[in-house]
Amino acid sequence: MKRSDKIYITLISLHGLLRGSDMELGRDADTGGQITYVVELAKTLGKHPKIGRVDLITRQIFDRKVDDTYSEPFEHLDGNSRIVRIPFGPRRYLRKEVLWPYLDEFETGVLRHFRKENRIPDCIHGHYADAGIAGSRLAYILGVPFVFTGHSLGISKKTRLLNAGMNASKIEERYNISTRINAEEAALDAAAMVVTSTHQEADEQYAQYKNYSRKKARIIPPGIDLDRFKISPKSKTPDVVNNIDSFLNDPKKPMILALARPDERKNLPALIHAFGRHAELRNISNLVIIAGNREDISQVHPGIRRVYEKLLLLVDKYDLYGSAAYPKHHNADDIPYIYHRAAKTRGVFVNPALTEPFGLTLIEAAASGLPIIATDDGGPRDIIRNCQNGRLIDALDIEKMGEIIHDVLSDNNQWQRYSRHGLRGVKRHYLWKTHTRKYVNEVQRILTRKRKIIPAALKKSNLPIMNRLVVFDIDNTLLGDREAFVKLMDLINESPIKVGFGLATGRRKESVFKLIREKTLPAPDLLISAVGSEIYYGPHMIPDEQWLSHIDYLWDRESILSALRGTPGLVLQPAREQRRFKVSYFIDPSLSPTVREIQLHLKNAGIRSKVIFSHGQFLDVLPIRASKGLAIRYISSKWALPKSYILVAGDSGNDRPMLTAGTLAVVVGNYSRELETLRG
Ligand code: GLC
Ligand code: MG
Repeated sequence: MKRSDKIYITLISLHGLLRGSDMELGRDADTGGQITYVVELAKTLGKHPKIGRVDLITRQIFDRKVDDTYSEPFEHLDGNSRIVRIPFGPRRYLRKEVLWPYLDEFETGVLRHFRKENRIPDCIHGHYADAGIAGSRLAYILGVPFVFTGHSLGISKKTRLLNAGMNASKIEERYNISTRINAEEAALDAAAMVVTSTHQEADEQYAQYKNYSRKKARIIPPGIDLDRFKISPKSKTPDVVNNIDSFLNDPKKPMILALARPDERKNLPALIHAFGRHAELRNISNLVIIAGNREDISQVHPGIRRVYEKLLLLVDKYDLYGSAAYPKHHNADDIPYIYHRAAKTRGVFVNPALTEPFGLTLIEAAASGLPIIATDDGGPRDIIRNCQNGRLIDALDIEKMGEIIHDVLSDNNQWQRYSRHGLRGVKRHYLWKTHTRKYVNEVQRILTRKRKIIPAALKKSNLPIMNRLVVFDIDNTLLGDREAFVKLMDLINESPIKVGFGLATGRRKESVFKLIREKTLPAPDLLISAVGSEIYYGPHMIPDEQWLSHIDYLWDRESILSALRGTPGLVLQPAREQRRFKVSYFIDPSLSPTVREIQLHLKNAGIRSKVIFSHGQFLDVLPIRASKGLAIRYISSKWALPKSYILVAGDSGNDRPMLTAGTLAVVVGNYSRELETLRG
C-alpha cells in the first residue's frame, strides 16, 4: 500500500483534560471515560496498517491550575498517531458547558492546522456534542465524510433531570442543554456513520433525535488494552493498594470494589447502604470505593463535595471503620493493580450507577477476572449478555443489591465461572484490536461506497491546501470577454501550484449557481455573493455562518428601508435581490441626491451602514462589516493565506473595496466610471 493510499483520520474531542499517558480521570466531570476512549482509539488506529495518520485534536489550555502538558501543541501517541492541541476562547481551562461560543474560533484553528500540514484528512470523527457540531461543519467545508459519537446525549440528560425534579429553565441555565441538543441534531444530520457502544444507544437513545437514522448506526463496543491488565508477580505493589489495606481490619476478605467518578449519577451511596444494612455481607467482605482524587473536600465543586460528604457520613452512620476503604488518591496507572487485588481476594466489581450507557470499568474488571454486578441499563446489559460474567441489578433496590452481591460472593463455583467467562468474553468482544478492526472496515466503506445516505456527495475541497487564490467578479469581468476567459481558465488549471478559484459578485447565489449549471462558469472553490454579504465554500457551497454572525453587527435593515423610503431617484430592486444583509435599489443619479448625501442622511438617522454605488445605476446598502473587500480579508485570515498570495479582479463600484483590500488587484479594461479614481 502506498503511503498516500493510507487513511488520514482526524478525531476531535474538545473538553476535559486530554493527554496520552497518566490521564487524570475523575479529576472533574469532563475528564472521564470519553478521554480514555479517544486516546485508546487514536493509539490503536495509529498502529493499524491501513491508517496513515491519526490526529486527535483537542483544546490547548494555558492554565496554572492544570499541568503544562495540556498546553503542548503536539504530543506523540503511538505509531502514526498524535494529539494536536488548538487554542480557542480564553486561555484557561473551561468546563464543557461554556465552550460553545468559541467553537468558530476552533474551526478556524483547525483549518490553519490542515494548511500547515498541507493535507486534508479523509474523514473527521467528532466526539460529544461540541466536537460533533464543530467537526460536522469542518467536514462539510472540506467535503469529507463525518463520523459522530455522542458519548452521552443531551435529550437523555434533560429527561433525567426533569424526572429528578429540576425545572426546565434551571436545566437550561446550568447545562445549556438546548444548545447541546441542537448541536447533536446537526451532527447526526451530517454524519455518514454514528458509532455507538451498545444496542440500547442505537435503538433507543439516538432515536429520540429528529435527524437520526438507525441505518447510520454501527454498534462497535469500546475495547481495552489487555496488556495493561496483565500484572507480573514481580511488579511493585503501588501505594494505593497498601493504603487500601491500611483501612481494613482484615484485607484478605473478598473485596466489593466500586470505581467511579465522584458524580451523583454514579449512585455510590446506594452501595454503602446495601453493604451497611446487610449484616452477613459485612461479615464476609470489605467495601472499597475509589471515587476520583480529592484534596480538601471543602474546596471542590459543590456537586462533587456532596458526593464525598455523603460517602463519609454513611461510613460513619453504619460504622464501617475497618471494613470499608475510600482512599484519597490513586493514579490511573494504579487501577489495574486495584482490580487485580480485588480478584485475588475473590471479590466482585459493582457499578450501581443510575444509568450506565457504556461501562468501560466493567470490561476492565472482567479482564482482571472479577465478576461484575451492574445496573440494568444499556452498557451492562450488552456486556453481561456477551460475557455471561455477572448479574444485573436495579440501582434503586438497595435490599436486593445487597442480596445479589452476597449471592455472588458466597457461591464459589459461580464465582469461578463468572471470572472465567469474563476473561474469555473480553478477549472475544472487547479488545481494542477488535474495535479498531471493525472501525477501520466501516470507515473504508464510507470512503468508497456510493454515498446515498451522506447528505453531500463527496469531493474534497482544495481550499485548505491552496497555495494561491484568484477571486474574480463575474459581470463585465469574467464574462466580459469569452476568449480571454477561456485562456485565463486554462492558465489556472495548468498551474503547477494549487490555485484556488473564487468568484465575488453582486449577484445572489442562486443566480450564480444557474450560471455554473449552464456552464457559463466553472464551479468555484469559494463564492462571495450579494456584494460581499454572503460567503460559500467548497464543492457543496456550504455557507459561512461565522461570516453572517460577524457582519450582523449593528445591522438594522428595517431602519434603512424606512430612512430611504421616498428618496427621489431610488427604486427598490425586486424582492429576490433583497438579502438578509443587503438592501438594494436602482438609482437614477440625475434625480437622486448624491451618494455622499445618502450616506450622510443614513448616518444622521443614527444608522450604521455601508453604501455602495455600482455601474452608475445600482445602490446597495450593507452592514458596516460587509463588502467584497472585507470578505476577502476575512477569507485570507480564515484560511491562513497571506494577502499577497491572493489576486482579485473587478470592473465596478462594488469591486472597489476588494480591489483596495491589499491583495494583488486588476481593474479590467472595460471598467465602469466610478473606478476611475483608482487609476495610479
Ligand atoms: C448585481 C445584483 C444587484 C446589485 C448589483 C450591484 O447586479 O443583482 O442587486 O445591486 O449587483 O452591486
Ligand atoms: Mg462587474
